Amino acid sequence: MTIILRDKAALRAWRLAMAPSQRVGFVPTMGALHQGHMSLLAQAREAAEVTIASIFVNPLQFGPNEDLSRYPRPIEADIEKLEAAGVDALFLPSVEDMYPEGASTFVEETLVSGPLCGAMRPGHFRGVTTVVLKLFNLVQPHVAVFGQKDAQQCAVIERMVRDLNVPVTIVRGPIVREADGLALSSRNVYLSAEDRAAAPLLHKSLQAVAAAHAAGEHDAAALAAIGLAVLAQSERIKVQYWEVRDPESLGAITTVGARGALLAVAAHLGTTRLIDNLLLGSDA
Ligand code: PAJ
Repeated sequence: MTIILRDKAALRAWRLAMAPSQRVGFVPTMGALHQGHMSLLAQAREAAEVTIASIFVNPLQFGPNEDLSRYPRPIEADIEKLEAAGVDALFLPSVEDMYPEGASTFVEETLVSGPLCGAMRPGHFRGVTTVVLKLFNLVQPHVAVFGQKDAQQCAVIERMVRDLNVPVTIVRGPIVREADGLALSSRNVYLSAEDRAAAPLLHKSLQAVAAAHAAGEHDAAALAAIGLAVLAQSERIKVQYWEVRDPESLGAITTVGARGALLAVAAHLGTTRLIDNLLLGSDA
């Protein structure tokens, strides 16, 4: 049975009843659960005795013109998936419970949050770090698992945990994809049939650049141009960025050296914004 904890008080009581020796593994989500989320929960189960997921569509991380109101919320189906996966508890708070009126404290990471999605979505990562630290303080997990699908989110949270001495180990889970390469995302349901057919080009562009790098191309601009050329095969794809970045700081690089690189792409298909990435290994 998955225990459903509907507010902070219920979560605290559940957490306090736990023996200190029991390790808690946590996977925060916004719901509309798919195999990507479920793979993170499986990794949390491996790493800890007790597994807890949260489902909270966090208003603070959505911009004014983003998809907060239409974000999918299939809560009954989500609960069934958590039950079937043997997840011990679900934290399912309301917005009022998470954000009491008059909250005036926020968490902001100021380096890794800057480029890529941070530049396209002002305030997004501030919303993520604020809600994730609040969730960590409530759940007090030993281990928390995040998806490499959101590579910048992983990097920002790892920084926050390091900089603020948060007592949790962050684990990154690999990207789960459809058979045609499209990274699973709760937002894929928005795609029209035509856009869905074009969407795997994001992954194809990453693979083409990885192949060019393996064949000896190390110039970041040349690599990005190869990725953009693949996306140009479909006029449905409106690219926001296609970047070759330092894998940890996400800072700009001119050549891919011993540290490897993060290849990161964001694009609109219709009104849906998709992101994908690939970590190029180090040359060492
Ligand atoms: P959400 O988009 O629901 O994602 C929850 C977790 O699932 C994140 O760590 C994300 O990277 C991971 N994930 C999504 N698609 C994946 C895929 N195809 N393969 C592997 N993992 C995948 O990310 C958020 O929610 C929110 O920002 C949150 C961290 C919950 C804070 O509100």
